[in-house]
Amino acid sequence: MHPLLNIAVRAARNAGNIIIRSLQHVEHLEVTTKGRNDFVSDVDRLAENEIISVIKKAYPDHAILAEESGRSGDNDTVWIIDPLDGTTNFLHGFPHYCVSIAVMVRGKIEHGVIYDPLREELFTASRGDGAQLNDRRLRVAKRKELTDGLLATGFPFRNPQHLPAFLATFNSLFTQVADVRRTGSAALDLAYVAAGRLDGYWEIGLKKWDLAAGVLLIEEAGGVVSDFVGGDNYINSGNVVVANLNLHKKMIDSIAPHLTDELKK
Ligand code: IPD
Ligand code: CA
Ligand code: CA
Repeated sequence: MHPLLNIAVRAARNAGNIIIRSLQHVEHLEVTTKGRNDFVSDVDRLAENEIISVIKKAYPDHAILAEESGRSGDNDTVWIIDPLDGTTNFLHGFPHYCVSIAVMVRGKIEHGVIYDPLREELFTASRGDGAQLNDRRLRVAKRKELTDGLLATGFPFRNPQHLPAFLATFNSLFTQVADVRRTGSAALDLAYVAAGRLDGYWEIGLKKWDLAAGVLLIEEAGGVVSDFVGGDNYINSGNVVVANLNLHKKMIDSIAPHLTDELKK
């Protein structure tokens, strides 16, 4: 395992342990609101501090972009951290959330880890080296027709201005596929596409820490990642469509007629 990935795994497992230990007192957690429908708890912060301290011990000069504490440092290597993806699930005792850590070197995502501490599932990828779940190699699903597909999505609950366009894309895709899930953890949705458990996924306006590790997992598992117009601006726009090659094109074609100008960027 690459040394950077090794540190990412250690950090993700430590953060996972913090999350699991906190489950005993989840109903007493202090929760604050960062914005509309955007909650944060001490667990998010503790997990993030632990991740950053593991990274800093190994690589004191590397830069950090973390959801709760923001950007720090100036270096070619940037660690992109979501200490708890699926906070709303976590706070409600809905057992589906994860830790997501990616390493970006000179603007390219090189390593990614997504760790589900409840199922003890560790998804890892290094560019050019494939993607794994624990020790098993991952491949995206092979389905060729949307009719057979199980997709996932995220609702634009923080950006209600996109709701009409989102619902139009939902209407178009939902009526063509087997079913659609909304799990509440974008990072796990991406990991599940890499693992072939989901056939595709789309969401408007993700943040870098939601998607950085997951998109590498998908590419390394043979899948395709793009923004809503098939381009590669998804890291900046946060608008993302992922699937295998056959279904990706069909998803893009279904989404295209419903895009506002803002969503074409
Ligand atoms: C959120 C989750 C959710 C997605 C949101 C994300 P958080 O992350 O991944 O599934 O729909 O866009 O912001 O706030 O739980 O880390
Ligand atoms: Ca997140
Ligand atoms: Ca989070």
